[in-house]
Amino acid sequence: MFGGAVVLLVRASASGATLAARALDAVGVKARKVAVPAEALELIRGDDFDVIIGEMKMDEATGLELLKIAKTFRPETDVVLLDRSPSVGAAVRVLSQGASGYVTEDNFDALASSLRAVLAKRALASYDSPAREPEDSSFGGIVGASDCVRGIFQLIRKVAPSTAPVLIQGESGTGKELIARAIHDNSPRRDRRFLAINSASLPETLLESELFGYRRGAFTGAQTDKMGLLESADGGSVLLDEIGSMSKQLQSKLLRAMEEGEIMPVGSTERVKVDVRFLAASNRDLWEMVLSDEFRKELYYRLNVIEIDVPPLRDRKEDIPLLTEHFLRKHCGDLGVQQKSVGKAALRKLLGHRWPGNVRELENVIRRAIILSKGPVILARDVQLQRSFSASASERADLLSMPYHKAKGVVEREFQKAYVSRLLSRSGGKMKEAAQRSGLSRQSIHQIAKRHGLK
Ligand SMILES: Nc1ncnc2c1ncn2[C@@H]1O[C@H](COP(=O)(O)OP(=O)(O)OP(=O)(O)O)[C@@H](O)[C@H]1O
Ligand SMILES: [Mg+2]
Repeated sequence: MFGGAVVLLVRASASGATLAARALDAVGVKARKVAVPAEALELIRGDDFDVIIGEMKMDEATGLELLKIAKTFRPETDVVLLDRSPSVGAAVRVLSQGASGYVTEDNFDALASSLRAVLAKRALASYDSPAREPEDSSFGGIVGASDCVRGIFQLIRKVAPSTAPVLIQGESGTGKELIARAIHDNSPRRDRRFLAINSASLPETLLESELFGYRRGAFTGAQTDKMGLLESADGGSVLLDEIGSMSKQLQSKLLRAMEEGEIMPVGSTERVKVDVRFLAASNRDLWEMVLSDEFRKELYYRLNVIEIDVPPLRDRKEDIPLLTEHFLRKHCGDLGVQQKSVGKAALRKLLGHRWPGNVRELENVIRRAIILSKGPVILARDVQLQRSFSASASERADLLSMPYHKAKGVVEREFQKAYVSRLLSRSGGKMKEAAQRSGLSRQSIHQIAKRHGLK
């Protein structure tokens, strides 16, 4: 029943080991065994264990030390300690430090039932945890498995049921509109309308009459009454896209509408009640706009009850393979061609790109690759990227996973190449002039140019 649990048994005495082995057998779990506590401490730092079984008295470390380290590095791990000569004092100390069990070393029943309880509790917790749900890597049409995207799935689930405004911020093409739709589709308003309006796409006066509606005669050409977007979405949700482009005057009117739940159509003297959930998206940092006095602080606070920040694709490259598969499936279907897969070199090329246009750009690149590819596998040459946006070496490499000197080397080589290449082009390829400008010897310039294949 608990066969999937990962258990570490830190063994000291023969009697402790025998008891633990029998108890583990009884609950149907296998354990990894180490004889030396020091080895256990190494393992705890590196691996996730569900349960650690140790003894109070071991050769190099006490059970209490093992417990402290386990709880520091892996607070989720359950620790059960065996004691040959148990005392109330030790029991209190151990349990108050977070142990899940404290058992006499000859009490088989106590250990087996303690393990059962711990494992049952863990099984229940993992069952509840959304991170282990099968639809893990996609939610509401949003595809991704990176920690940040999973965090966004959870946030959407959490905020969808309420009517609180949500501010979604992220670069262009990161999926802000998709997230707004997912919030609406998972809310009790899902059967009412979801309307999106892009504040950047309309001149101010038009935007106002689109949002709030107008009365006949409000301006030349207003021959009939027209219901505004906020009113037509009554009971539903409205996405105010690129809200940073809205004029400050319109921001004030919007603020009133949000505060009072009422709007005033253009040319009207009467207010109209509206019940909409406000969602807003922006690819500019609204708080910075508040600081530079381009966005009203009151409206910012009003909108930003819940904030979802969508990171750019280059900061969550682990989503690229999944998204690629998703778009291959979608567009092979749309284009009516055989299902294609992506080759290793092509995938490497996708992973090395900077993606300034984020997921939207990836989708376009995949669609083009499907059309260009001749066989069932997408090759590197089918992946056509905007070269000027290719990631630099230091962006491709995970600098922080390297030792300092190696990371410095990567950045230095990149700098040398960029510097000398520009230096040479500015000096019209003349070595003497390049040396004078830079203060480098002609020989050094020559060496760097040669190393990087510069002409
Ligand atoms: N995580 C994702 N999974 C699947 N498709 C995605 C994802 N993110 C974005 N897309 C797709 O990429 C395109 C752009 O997404 P969307 O329009 O939501 O971006 P946006 O952040 O609103 O961009 P903009 O700021 O330019 O309006 C859409 O076709 C969308 O379906
Ligand atoms: Mg958008």
